[in-house]
Amino acid sequence: MKISFSKKMNSFNDSIFNVLNKKIAEYSKSGKPIYNFSIGTPDFKPAKHIMEVLSEEAKYPDNYKYAITDREELLSAAKNWYKRRYNVSLDLSEIMSVYGSQEAISRIFYTLCDSGDIVLVPNPGYPIFSVGPDLCGAKVEYYNLYKENNFMLDFNDIPEDVAKKAKVIVVSYPLNPVCTLATDEFYINLIEFAKKYNIVVIHDNAYSDIVYDGKIGKSFLSFDGAKEVGVEVNSLSKAYNMTGARISFVLGNKEIVEKFKILRSQVDYGIFLPIQKAAIAALNGPQDEVLKNRIEYQARRDALCDGLKNIGFDIERSQGTMFAWSKIPSKYKSSEEFTLDLLDKTGVAVVPGSTFGSLGEGFVRLALVISVEKIKEAVKVIEENL
Ligand SMILES: Cc1ncc(COP(=O)(O)O)c(C=O)c1O
Repeated sequence: MKISFSKKMNSFNDSIFNVLNKKIAEYSKSGKPIYNFSIGTPDFKPAKHIMEVLSEEAKYPDNYKYAITDREELLSAAKNWYKRRYNVSLDLSEIMSVYGSQEAISRIFYTLCDSGDIVLVPNPGYPIFSVGPDLCGAKVEYYNLYKENNFMLDFNDIPEDVAKKAKVIVVSYPLNPVCTLATDEFYINLIEFAKKYNIVVIHDNAYSDIVYDGKIGKSFLSFDGAKEVGVEVNSLSKAYNMTGARISFVLGNKEIVEKFKILRSQVDYGIFLPIQKAAIAALNGPQDEVLKNRIEYQARRDALCDGLKNIGFDIERSQGTMFAWSKIPSKYKSSEEFTLDLLDKTGVAVVPGSTFGSLGEGFVRLALVISVEKIKEAVKVIEENL
């Protein structure tokens, strides 16, 4: 039988990660070391108390039934987390869980957009920011972010007619892949812009606990008027090293949360109860490992960004996220060409910036997922072989 697939599938190619993984497997046959900076999964363990709760709760057969809803304890833990961590007051009705931020951002547009409605998304930016609205039938319009402007959205760059038509804007700082933080003034302007043009804000806050140089990551919801215009998506994946135990929250505007709950009730039966309990333990328990990890990420950031700069790369120290963002050497025509040559010559795996949008071309992203010692070794290998 000839199967004819949807036109939508034409926009998805075999991911660069599959190509990289094949290359890495080939390279490893040489016996030389691989320095894999391509994967955005923390190499740290979850805190012991989180793993203990998850394994204990997995022993009870009743916990394998459909959870259907969020346990009130879970919502209260998220509410208290927001108060303690960001000084944001929320009602339980303004909070819901999802299977990770990725899932939230891939589906929330069904509740906000009809076919062809405009969603503004960053270029460069994390891929789901454009894949999500596209899957839901919305029309993606990119807003451009430039190094010269600290990769900050300049609201004057959005044409008036586009702003008037736009339904939603996706914003995320600290921003993966460019590693910059937004100022307070930026969020104040964002809320003003959203109100002026009646645009819903979705703020992805995956990295507020991985910010450097003594700065404290904030919540979009801590700014006046934020709840009126949008929601924040916040994940336990990176702060608590729980990427595989899928859980995040959507918080803020009550109407959006209610509608999204209705949509999800059509396709989902609730988060596995041991994961709900583990998330409660993560949020209510000791937070010292969050700080410990941040300190280690900063040491890695210093080793990588300073190390590459010292050997001639055009790279700034990351302000936040678990990544570094570097310009490619000028002799290369594209970030993909550089990525493949780098891997061939050094065993260093990175992600080409073009994966994150047209303005990511000319850059590569490196994840801070290997030790300081190995990072220093990788920098030396690059210096000697490239
Ligand atoms: C900006 C950003 N948002 C969301 C995610 C996905 O997070 P989750 O594991 O909660 O789906 C990632 C993962 O790398 C990310 O970088």
